Amino acid sequence: MMTLLALSASLAACGGIAGPVAPSPTPDGVNVPPPAGVTLRSAAASIGKLVGAAVKSNLLADGEYSRVLRQEFNYLTAEYELKWDVIEPRMGRTDYSRGDAIVSFGDAQRLRMKGHALIWHESTPSWVEDLPTDAFRAALMAHIRTTVGRYRGRLAAWDVVNEAVSDGGGLRDSVYQRKLGNGYIAEAFREARTADPSALLFYNDYGAEGLNGKSNRVYELVRDLKAAGVPIDGVGLQMHVGTTSRPSVADIAANMRRLAALGVVVTISEMDVVLNGPGSQDERLAAQREVYRDIVGVCVREPRCDGVTFWGFTDGHTWLPGQEPLLFDAQYGRKPAYSGVLDALLGR
Ligand code: G3I
Repeated sequence: MMTLLALSASLAACGGIAGPVAPSPTPDGVNVPPPAGVTLRSAAASIGKLVGAAVKSNLLADGEYSRVLRQEFNYLTAEYELKWDVIEPRMGRTDYSRGDAIVSFGDAQRLRMKGHALIWHESTPSWVEDLPTDAFRAALMAHIRTTVGRYRGRLAAWDVVNEAVSDGGGLRDSVYQRKLGNGYIAEAFREARTADPSALLFYNDYGAEGLNGKSNRVYELVRDLKAAGVPIDGVGLQMHVGTTSRPSVADIAANMRRLAALGVVVTISEMDVVLNGPGSQDERLAAQREVYRDIVGVCVREPRCDGVTFWGFTDGHTWLPGQEPLLFDAQYGRKPAYSGVLDALLGR
């Protein structure tokens, strides 16, 4: 899991943190009725954008959760079920049941889906560390081949490599880097392409949404991969931000454009906006609304931004409990943030 330290780094990369993110009371979320018949999903479809959510397999049987999910979103990402440590906690003993549940749900609801994430230093099974290099490479390639191949033709995209650039701007010192060197990234993308030629393949990271040392390194990484003919199709900007710690609209737009000029699509892949900063609860909810509207608006206006995925959609189920980062409150009431996203999608 991206630690809160890493989240701090992400927020810092967005222009400074306004003090510790104190837990806040359960919001009396303003229930914002949308115009009759308009949903995030219908508004996004009208402009050809994706509007997605990270989902948890154990919640799909919850009627309210799945109703809001189907009504408001057209793109699903498995929040943790398709990660290596969940699939293969012991060498050679795979369990895809949780991932299968999400993909079956998405198929049944005819929703677009993204797999997440084939390589991530924080979701690597513990048994991997002790393997010698050749066995490590064989296990990694088998993981990619088997997992991507299992859902061939059913997932529209994969996050192939997640968070390979360090907060300081170099390539992260991970078991992948130590065992295989810099080339592991290209090897992973090539293996994924072979396993499912129809899936778009993404590099995904946090703290690299605007213009800073880390986003410069991500740009260079993607540039070099493209120059080497590596099959990378897109870049995910995670967008874990706060009401007082977010990149500027101008920097996000400039970063998206320079990435797009490399020949890749860009997606906002894990957006949430923690309620940090001063003011009353209503003032903070209003500030959160503006951050969502501003940033989603950048993607709406950028032709090569395919859409926005929120890292969950209800404050009742978030990796940041107590920080109220999402569009619906814990009782599935629409927060002002919801209307901010809707306004952005409708160009208001
Ligand atoms: O649901 C199981 C439960 O049945 C079990 O009893 C319990 C204890 O093992 O685990 C529960 O699953 C947890 C899951 O979240 C659902 O809450 C996993 O242990 C836990 O590891 C998992 O954490 C996820 C984390 O990535 C690690 O995979 C978070 O939900 C998820 O929000 C977080 O997402 C990451 C992105 O992948 C990459 N970018 C940063 C982001 C935040 O860290």
